[in-house]
Amino acid sequence: MKTAFQLDRLVHGYWRLKQWNLTPQQLLQLTEQVIELGIRTFDHAACYGSFTNEEAFGQALKLKPSLRHEITLITKCGILFPSQEFPTIDSHYYDNSYEHIVASAERSIAKMQCDYLDVLLIHRLSPCVDPEQVAKAFEHLHSSGKVRYFGVSNYTPSKFSMLQSYLDQPLLTNQIEISPLHLAPFDDGTLDYLMEKRIRPMAWSPLAGGELFNKDNPAGVRVRKALLDIGQRFNETHLDTLAYAWLLSHPAKITPVIGSGELRRIQRAVDALSIQFSEQDWIEVYKAAQGHDIP
Ligand SMILES: NC(=O)c1ccc[n+]([C@@H]2O[C@H](COP(=O)([O-])OP(=O)(O)OC[C@H]3O[C@@H](n4cnc5c(N)ncnc54)[C@H](OP(=O)(O)O)[C@@H]3O)[C@@H](O)[C@H]2O)c1
Repeated sequence: MKTAFQLDRLVHGYWRLKQWNLTPQQLLQLTEQVIELGIRTFDHAACYGSFTNEEAFGQALKLKPSLRHEITLITKCGILFPSQEFPTIDSHYYDNSYEHIVASAERSIAKMQCDYLDVLLIHRLSPCVDPEQVAKAFEHLHSSGKVRYFGVSNYTPSKFSMLQSYLDQPLLTNQIEISPLHLAPFDDGTLDYLMEKRIRPMAWSPLAGGELFNKDNPAGVRVRKALLDIGQRFNETHLDTLAYAWLLSHPAKITPVIGSGELRRIQRAVDALSIQFSEQDWIEVYKAAQGHDIP
């Protein structure tokens, strides 16, 4: 089972939107500039900004509704925690029930003023998920035209495969943490599984949430040196460009989700599309990240 829809090579993520401190007009301008760079897919989650970021994006989109048809909107559901937005929720938990998935997707559509979602991801798998409920929710949202495609986030291969076995539609992606400072998916079977199924992974925190730039992080220091050494071959001195290039060069066709709200840094992710690491160079960075040689 495979979908004809292909994820873009780069996605702009909205987790840190509050820190960008933008008015709706400024956010619209940023979104348009990001589109001009060739990035048309935007990653949200119901819970980002304590359940307020989607609404902020909706206010920007309202200023230019025609933009909706130029972009791909991804959002996620299923994580709940106490917030002003939901005062009755008094603990941190996951809700993967039919009712919650449908209500959350409908809320996301209303908040983003976007009519439909291109992709809905289950943000985290509840340890007591009932996959029949997820399947029923996906079926309802799809047949009512509210969501085009579905995926998951932070799933292990066995959980991905288990959920898929209950669904009529193929899952589009698994959005997982991947960066030069988070190598686990390369070694624990997560990427092998997605490659076997020809499914493109999305990489959250591709720059390790900024930790890659932390001069006190020993692995960061090693990775920076390896990336900058290899960068000389490409005349590239920007660490972020080289880190994105390292992820993009992997044959799993990883889609990094860019976390910065600064246009010049988003541009540097786009610059990475023209750099292809050789297998030898790729492994140099992998070895630097591990802090030891390969066997
Ligand atoms: N599915 C999940 O569970 C999950 C979890 C986390 C995130 N996500 C998604 O993934 C997206 C990206 O995650 P992320 O924000 O952690 O990504 P990231 O790119 O790894 O980290 C972004 C952080 O790095 C900083 N940064 C970027 N370039 C820099 C540079 N050249 N020098 C110094 N600092 C730099 C940014 O600061 P500036 O903003 O100042 O540029 C920002 O604080 C999120 O927006 C969200 O959509 C998903």
